[in-house]
Amino acid sequence: MKPATGHYLILGCFCLAFCSGCTSYKFLESEHHPHTWKKLFLVHHWPVTVCKMSENDCKDPPQYWTIHGLWPDKVDECNRTWHFNVTEIKDLLPDMRQYWPDVLHSSPNRTQFWKHEWDKHGTCAATVEPLNSQKKYFGRTLDLYQKLDLNSCLLKVGIKPSSTYYQMTAIKEALTSVYGVTPKVQCLPPEEGEEVQTIGQIEFCFTKELELRNCTNSEADSYVMPNNWNFGPEELSVCNDTLTYYPAQVQFYN
Ligand SMILES: *[C@@H]1O[C@H](CO)[C@@H](O)[C@H](O)[C@H]1NC(C)=O
Ligand SMILES: *[C@@H]1O[C@H](CO)[C@@H](O)[C@H](O)[C@H]1NC(C)=O
Ligand SMILES: *[C@@H]1O[C@H](CO)[C@@H](O)[C@H](O)[C@H]1NC(C)=O
Ligand SMILES: *[C@@H]1O[C@H](CO)[C@@H](O)[C@H](O)[C@H]1NC(C)=O
Ligand SMILES: *[C@@H]1O[C@H](CO)[C@@H](O)[C@H](O)[C@H]1NC(C)=O
Repeated sequence: MKPATGHYLILGCFCLAFCSGCTSYKFLESEHHPHTWKKLFLVHHWPVTVCKMSENDCKDPPQYWTIHGLWPDKVDECNRTWHFNVTEIKDLLPDMRQYWPDVLHSSPNRTQFWKHEWDKHGTCAATVEPLNSQKKYFGRTLDLYQKLDLNSCLLKVGIKPSSTYYQMTAIKEALTSVYGVTPKVQCLPPEEGEEVQTIGQIEFCFTKELELRNCTNSEADSYVMPNNWNFGPEELSVCNDTLTYYPAQVQFYN
């Protein structure tokens, strides 16, 4: 669990790679504009937990954290006439299938999940220049995911799927020590007869300039993004600081 010194080196590389790509963007902003947002959540989910939440057939979930989406806070469905068009992201499809799969419906040419993410979140994110097309929105999300490299970072700090439980505070502290920012971690509450929550999502926050920032709520940031991508009757919520299960395999309890 203890981060080795090597991580700071890796983090250093990450920062260099990251910041060299950044430009300063200026945006006209009105407090009253209905489509104003302040930060983006890059949402990773743990496919095993997603499968556990669903009644669908979901046979062999990937054993790595995949992308759920890149979500601006406060807003959704900002432009209903800007339709998802998979041809626009055809160059990205191999990476999309690997890193942004529809965990619940594994048919390779299903694009419904990406359409949903575009319609609901992408059309809002697209108000800023670095994300203002489908190719940029999906492409930059894949870039951010690869630069964060959550899967490697978790392994390096010794957090891997296990039948023994983790303290949530230890997971949060490890993430904060590696990335220098506080992410938002979501869990599936304990089911009846269970005592531990199950980790489900790890969200990192970014500024409009696509720089990492803390996810902590500031000023009027208290609006909680409803999650309409329906995984079933169960819902994720912010993890409590209690014992946490990070499952390697899907186990159904009924
Ligand atoms: C909505 O998207 C359409 C199609 O891309 C575009 O022509 C229009 O300007 C957009 N509307 C707004 C308010 O951004
Ligand atoms: C989808 O995008 C492709 C490539 O940009 C374009 O040629 C095609 O006309 C678009 N289809 C629709 C229905 O807009
Ligand atoms: C799925 O993709 C394959 C090729 O990858 C294609 O032959 C097939 O027609 C596609 N199916 C649908 C329903 O689009
Ligand atoms: C956290 O604790 C609260 C209060 O006991 C509970 O309502 C909530 O479901 C718990 N969340 C998780 C993810 O276990
Ligand atoms: C995040 O918060 C911590 C302490 O709460 C602070 O030390 C750090 O500088 C913040 N990072 C950023 C990028 O704002």
